[in-house]
Amino acid sequence: MAPRGTVPSVWVLGAARRRQLSRIVREHAEGALGYPGLMSVGAIVLAAGRGERFGGAVPKAFVPIAGKPMLLHALAAIAATPAIDFIVPVVARTELPRLEDLATALAEIRGIRSAVAGGAERQDSVMAGLAALPAETELVAVHDAARPLVGPAAVTRVVDAARVSGAAILAVPARDTIKRVRGGRILGTPLRSECYAAQTPQVFRVDLLREALEKAAADGFRGTDDSELVERIGVPVDWVSGETSNFKVTDGDDLAAAERWLSARRADAQEAIA
Ligand code: CTP
Ligand code: MG
Repeated sequence: MAPRGTVPSVWVLGAARRRQLSRIVREHAEGALGYPGLMSVGAIVLAAGRGERFGGAVPKAFVPIAGKPMLLHALAAIAATPAIDFIVPVVARTELPRLEDLATALAEIRGIRSAVAGGAERQDSVMAGLAALPAETELVAVHDAARPLVGPAAVTRVVDAARVSGAAILAVPARDTIKRVRGGRILGTPLRSECYAAQTPQVFRVDLLREALEKAAADGFRGTDDSELVERIGVPVDWVSGETSNFKVTDGDDLAAAERWLSARRADAQEAIA
């Protein structure tokens, strides 16, 4: 039986591709069951966007939440997951000097590597991060700095799923009924039970993500997440449960919500100590 959440596109692939995919699955099941510590896992934390919908003078990733830039929250959240070996932040070239002011805080983050300059589109930024990962990296977790509240349990879940299948994302069930629209008209209503909101980190075998990015670049295709690019080269992508707190900070309301989540977590932690 196909694993829960597997995109069924594998069944329409040619025999050679199916053989290749079953080899990937077999190798990684062996890796995960027999030698779990041997896969090297890198993370790319993307902070090179302009934050146009957010607005303001400071780029979105550097806007403080509870007194600390959003990017530092996201980096610390990823570093809190023991499965992640190293982390490459990606920021806009013009914003690289801002990291010098954060050098002390950055130096305390486990596994942190030098930041690299991102590109005009999110896919360009992913490509830049990928190029900066150490050559031995086998799995890569791509995370948005705009999701500063992800927890280590969710990161561990998605990394573990990708160790086995080669490609996995976090997702949460759609609460609302989703409509496909064009202009003022409804085009259709997909089954709500089949609709999920994708989150990051999204974790892939490095070679699969690289192939997906290269194919997208060659086709001039721009996706809204990395999974979409991997799906379109015919690789099945699994999903595991994300978290409602792992929302993307897009506008000022989201920032206020992130502040509320953080203070609630602090209150919980203090209650646990008391
Ligand atoms: N991102 C990036 N490089 C780009 C575009 C986006 O690294 N060229 C990153 C953003 O910094 C963000 C994540 O991708 O952490 C998700 O993008 P989004 O939430 O859309 O952020 P922005 O692109 O910054 O915001 P906007 O679309 O409103 O301009
Ligand atoms: Mg954007």
